[in-house]
Amino acid sequence: MGWRVLCLCMFLGALFMLFNAQNAFVSCALTSQLQEEITRINGEGPYIGLVIPNSFELNPLLQNPAYTPSENIIDFAGRRFRFGSIGDKPVILIYAAITTQLLLSIFNIEGVVHYGIAGNANPSLNIGDVAIPQFWAHLTLWSWQRYGEGPSNTLPLEQNGDYTRNVGYLKFGDFMSNVSWGDSFDNLLNRIWYQPEEVFPVDGIPEQRQHALWVPVDYNYYQIATRLKKLKLDACINSTTCLSTTPKVEMVERGASASIYIDNAAYRSFIYKKFHVTPVEMESASVALICLQQRVPFIVIRALSDLAGGGSSDSNEADIFAPLAATNSVKVVIEFIKLLPSKSPKWSPM
Ligand SMILES: *[C@@H]1O[C@H](CO)[C@@H](O)[C@H](O)[C@H]1NC(C)=O
Ligand SMILES: *[C@@H]1O[C@H](CO)[C@@H](O)[C@H](O)[C@H]1NC(C)=O
Repeated sequence: MGWRVLCLCMFLGALFMLFNAQNAFVSCALTSQLQEEITRINGEGPYIGLVIPNSFELNPLLQNPAYTPSENIIDFAGRRFRFGSIGDKPVILIYAAITTQLLLSIFNIEGVVHYGIAGNANPSLNIGDVAIPQFWAHLTLWSWQRYGEGPSNTLPLEQNGDYTRNVGYLKFGDFMSNVSWGDSFDNLLNRIWYQPEEVFPVDGIPEQRQHALWVPVDYNYYQIATRLKKLKLDACINSTTCLSTTPKVEMVERGASASIYIDNAAYRSFIYKKFHVTPVEMESASVALICLQQRVPFIVIRALSDLAGGGSSDSNEADIFAPLAATNSVKVVIEFIKLLPSKSPKWSPM
């Protein structure tokens, strides 16, 4: 290839990138028409932001008679914002999780309610129960220690405060199968050390980081949610298939999110013993961290649809009971929103 051809290719490549960059910019920009629409919609707020993992959990809400859709729908930045109300509370429905940032940046939001289904790591709760944790953490930020080092060795970047050994570790050698316990085993994968996230609160000093591992849900929301403990939940999928226990709403200590679908009994048991987590899933910690950063009240309601690997050996129960769990999560969310005071603090746009 001669240099002329090469130059032409580079030129076309640059042009292509420029074209795409401009398109991307145009599709994400708030046009003045959209801004007017948003101002009008915000005037009908403040809203509760309902953050939902999938259509699987959205659809039972859309179909529930307690939800009244409004005519407003905004498609923006590749995401859809649906508007409606539950009782006299205006709500905005979005999919999780980082869209929560857009939700809070653009709309008049008084609080965030995140709901859906989850795996259950807590042996004292059952499939079909709805768990409302007090704290959430993201459990897949790790420092992965090199082979040969142990708990007394500092981690890379530990000394300048990036990483810590305070939260604890998982050692792969502790999970050898078919060996008697009590001995220590080596494994080249050594240990992973759990790490808190970095957050930059909206009311903090810009770019001055704080660390957050267990993010508390809003205190008032949690108190209100305790009134749902006697709510009657569905126990049957159809006339013949029912849960073996009566499902209930449970206030629990902790939930955990990770970029992992957990279907593994050993890891389930480990994180329960180490962190006392009940629901395990993939979104709540992101929602919690965004709300923490923005100082917006939030709560998470998760119906337990499977045992995260702790159930019978032949299948993951999510296949059978997930629809029931999704319906129950919607039921609890609706009752929770009905309990919120209708007069909420006035929103002051930035
Ligand atoms: C342990 O060893 C036995 C006998 O070799 C085998 O049948 C069983 O599947 C093994 N269990 C695990 C967890 O590897
Ligand atoms: C009820 O649901 C179970 C599990 O999906 C299914 O196996 C069974 O055939 C269903 N029974 C009826 C009566 O629809």
